[in-house]
Amino acid sequence: MQRFDRALHQCISLERQRFLDVACATALAAGQLIRDRFHQPHDIHLKGAIDLVTETDLASEALILDRLAKLTPDIPVMAEESSRSLSLRSQPQYWVVDPLDGTTNFAHGVPHIAVSIALLENELPKVGAIYHPLLDELYCASLGGGSWLNEDRVQVTQTPELISALVATGFPYDIEHSLLTVLRHLSRVLPRVRDIRRAGAAALDLAYVACGRLDGFYEINLQPWDTAAGWLLVEEAGGRLSTFDDSPYSPFVPQLLASNNRLHSALVQLLK
Ligand code: IPD
Ligand code: CA
Ligand code: CA
Repeated sequence: MQRFDRALHQCISLERQRFLDVACATALAAGQLIRDRFHQPHDIHLKGAIDLVTETDLASEALILDRLAKLTPDIPVMAEESSRSLSLRSQPQYWVVDPLDGTTNFAHGVPHIAVSIALLENELPKVGAIYHPLLDELYCASLGGGSWLNEDRVQVTQTPELISALVATGFPYDIEHSLLTVLRHLSRVLPRVRDIRRAGAAALDLAYVACGRLDGFYEINLQPWDTAAGWLLVEEAGGRLSTFDDSPYSPFVPQLLASNNRLHSALVQLLK
């Protein structure tokens, strides 16, 4: 029995079941590759002043692209390390892949990393899988079929007030341009909540909101591969995503606020 069989049985169609199966199996395979390389020396390159890519990001992406091409040859793939893939946005259906979320953690030996794979149809997520290879935690969701962590269905927290909330955030790689905005948001949120985390993997931040380890998460300038799978996980777990002014979320807009729903308006008041 596979750990995601219960999630598969909740899918509303056989087609969606197949896509969730592909997403989960592929995330597990890429995660195994990452796990095997975690303690090896890394070949680290700079994509920007502080934006890294390692040989393992590239190897994980190659494995994922190869598997998806074999399993779903008609569906194109928007993947972080493949150039021009953002142009796929106009396609009706495509996979969105972060082959290694938390590359800075990985490069420094910090064990907080993930693989993220989602299928978008008309820019909305239909299935999503996020795998933390070092904790061996597989998060997955299908539209209408709930959010799952390994064999268990998960829900967001019921935390009703900010002062009891643990909230995560992240800092964009272009921090020299966005520092004042980041500090303004932090200075408004930090004094009002129990504490803030900056753990360094946005896909896991969203998975943690979905499974109730965090009450909320916000960040600017994320990319579709950071958020597509986590978006579905949070919503299927009863949570909510929006922009900072509470407009509908899209992975192509530069603001993401995710919450357990109950805290959403209070967080919007701080961030808008
Ligand atoms: C990054 C991580 C980080 C977030 C950055 C992302 P990467 O993804 O998710 O937490 O703050 O904005 O780009 O580069 O490690 O895949
Ligand atoms: Ca990422
Ligand atoms: Ca990445």
